Amino acid sequence: MQTVLALETSCDESAVAVMGLRSGKIHVLSNCISSQIAEHAKWGGVVPEIASRMHLEVLPFLIGDALCKSGKSIAEIDAIASTVAPGLAGSLLIGSVSARTLSMLNKVPFLGVHHLEGHLASILLSDLPPRPPYLVLLVSGGHTELIRVDPHLKFHRLGRSHDDAAGEAFDKVARLLGLSYPGGPEIEKYGERGDPKRFVLPQGRVSKPEGGFYPYDFSFSGLKTAMLRKINQLKEENERLPIDDLAASFEQAVAEVLVSRSVRCATDQGMQNIVMVGGVAANTRLRTMMSKKALENSIGVHLAPKAFCTDNAAMIGAAALLRLESGVKSSSLQLGVKGRLPLEQSDLLYKQIQPF
Ligand code: KG4
Ligand code: ZN
Repeated sequence: MQTVLALETSCDESAVAVMGLRSGKIHVLSNCISSQIAEHAKWGGVVPEIASRMHLEVLPFLIGDALCKSGKSIAEIDAIASTVAPGLAGSLLIGSVSARTLSMLNKVPFLGVHHLEGHLASILLSDLPPRPPYLVLLVSGGHTELIRVDPHLKFHRLGRSHDDAAGEAFDKVARLLGLSYPGGPEIEKYGERGDPKRFVLPQGRVSKPEGGFYPYDFSFSGLKTAMLRKINQLKEENERLPIDDLAASFEQAVAEVLVSRSVRCATDQGMQNIVMVGGVAANTRLRTMMSKKALENSIGVHLAPKAFCTDNAAMIGAAALLRLESGVKSSSLQLGVKGRLPLEQSDLLYKQIQPF
């Protein structure tokens, strides 16, 4: 079995996993996460300096824990991977320096992984992952993208958000409703009891300069403003905020737009399968609506397991194993980190002349 020790520190979760590849199947040997959410919740969002410091404090213990739970010693690890882009630069640096140091000390290859490639690989941790080509809806706190995945790790972005990512919209609307960070799970909790049809909300569309709309792109800022207006209006009317109905209606509006554009894109592209990954893909209403609509259109649906939707190191290890399987040997030990990097450029991370 080929084994990888993987580190993920791109945002507010410190995570370490040991992953194995045997006969083409990826196995999670251990998956440890230390969430910083409670610390950041006090500030209503992620504070980059706090995030880096906390990664630094917990990483050595998490690495020990992940190795121990996997039953592997460091001498049995074949490669060490860490997320190097995109994300908070200071946080990425903690994981990347730790991984490169371990790689040098243990004389095994280092692989710098693109965070979104990690999210894409999370579908391999489900029971029956599809074979490429397929369409992926990647919905997280930083990204909302429709990506066509072709064989040999070729990625093409077909749609994107022009403003907030879906998860960001969940977080901001939760704040307007007086709910805590991260907003997605909170809105989901209240929305379960609410009426999703009570408030009619806009489905943001992005105009083309030459007229018409981009069919696979998203915009969530109008929806956020509509929620703010509705909340202010209800407050002026001295009504107690119907948080359940507001949360359910918001969730419904986001899910409808994500589902309808994904299904349209898959149909236009002749894709037989839609895959959904990223933190927002943990949302039950979205999972149910996507499964139903795709089925109505004779398209298969593959959902990342809920435990691997939000940031984790298992998905980073899975992406590294796929790269190794594709013939990649290593990344340069001089490879730095980058706050932004398009997914289409992730091949750059495996060049021996470091790109940054
Ligand atoms: O993938 P992720 O952990 O981090 C990024 O790469 O951004 O996604 C975090 C985002 C947050 O915005 C969070 O509110 C959202 O995912 N999220 C959810 C749910 N769980 C997490 N959104 C909706 N419903 C959920 N159950
Ligand atoms: Zn993520």
